[in-house]
Amino acid sequence: MKVLAILYTGGEAARQEPRLLGTTENQLGIREWLESQGHEYIVSEDKEGPDSAFQKHLADAEVLITTPFHPGYLTAELMEKAKNLKICITAGVGSDHIDLNAAVKHGVEVLEVSGSNVVSVAEHVVMSILLLVRNFVPAHEMIERGDWQVSDVARNAYDLEGKVVGTIGAGRIGFRVLQRLKPFNCKELLYFDYAALPEHASKEVEARRVEDLKDFVSQCDVVTVNCPLHEGTRGLVNAELLKHFKKGAWLVNTARGAICDREAVAAAVKSGQLNGYSGDVWNVQPAPKDHPWRYMKNPLGGGNGMVPHYSGTTLDAQARYAAGTRSILENYLTNKPQEPQNVIIGKKGYETKAYGQR
Ligand code: NAI
Repeated sequence: MKVLAILYTGGEAARQEPRLLGTTENQLGIREWLESQGHEYIVSEDKEGPDSAFQKHLADAEVLITTPFHPGYLTAELMEKAKNLKICITAGVGSDHIDLNAAVKHGVEVLEVSGSNVVSVAEHVVMSILLLVRNFVPAHEMIERGDWQVSDVARNAYDLEGKVVGTIGAGRIGFRVLQRLKPFNCKELLYFDYAALPEHASKEVEARRVEDLKDFVSQCDVVTVNCPLHEGTRGLVNAELLKHFKKGAWLVNTARGAICDREAVAAAVKSGQLNGYSGDVWNVQPAPKDHPWRYMKNPLGGGNGMVPHYSGTTLDAQARYAAGTRSILENYLTNKPQEPQNVIIGKKGYETKAYGQR
């Protein structure tokens, strides 16, 4: 059996730190195990274009392992050519880099390691909300420059207490964000999701569901995006929706870059319609050097909390998604049933309700 994994190259850091498991150097820690069973294991970061290792080896691979951090984009066109492909495993959470409808058509199963990094992301969301609301980045940059002018940063710094915070998507991550925000004594916690939280969960976090998206964003001081990317969420936060945000609201997106319109967000930050935008996900990864989200600033020179895609790939998370990937492979190789929560596309099509209402 040929197993193809598309991972990013970690370089010196990955050689020094073996717990960087999601790299081409450390290979999710499964090479020895796979080879001892006689399987072929190809690992590469080369993923773009017809001559890439990705496209070359996809032609006869039976198993494809990818990560959202360095996504091998498996389009419908590539799926046509992957004649031997049976199963795609996402080492992490979020399988939008795979054309899921094409996977259904070709009978290819898609699994992810559900829950493996949801705490990692929820913590990053709370940090990102705080760094925007408290105007942290410009304050730190001032210190690095050798300057000290408190008023320049205090003029745009607020408390989170007393603000309205809402999440688009209240699944594993969205719910954990609400849980973590509760002790901050926000004025209100809101959520927008076609699936209502179970009663005990909404009681625990005291979150109110708002069913209309424009109505929802118009009530929030902070919006955090925690839903998967699919047909129903691509470009969801666009120029039209941004008009309905409170002027000077903050937006945090660690879900997927393409859920927010690139140009509309940059323009909203520049004009001050958004006081800030923060997150780790980009519409193309790696993000090009001239991507406007790298440089956008609000009229007071702050409001940018962007980082590379790493919130869900802490060393703790990598241990969990590497172990989860191996366990999915073991089930596949021994014909055992998969954990239901990991199955996005099963033998009969979509098994999750999280990738859009069908
Ligand atoms: P989940 O499946 O537990 O929850 C997703 C929730 O979004 C569900 O409640 C679903 O009903 C809701 N949803 C789907 N479409 C929606 C829509 N149109 N409007 C409102 N809500 C909608 O997934 P989980 O674990 O919470 O992860 C969510 C997403 O976060 C992943 O799909 C992935 O894209 C992203 N993620 C990002 C990571 C990072 O490192 N930045 C790491 C892990 C996940």
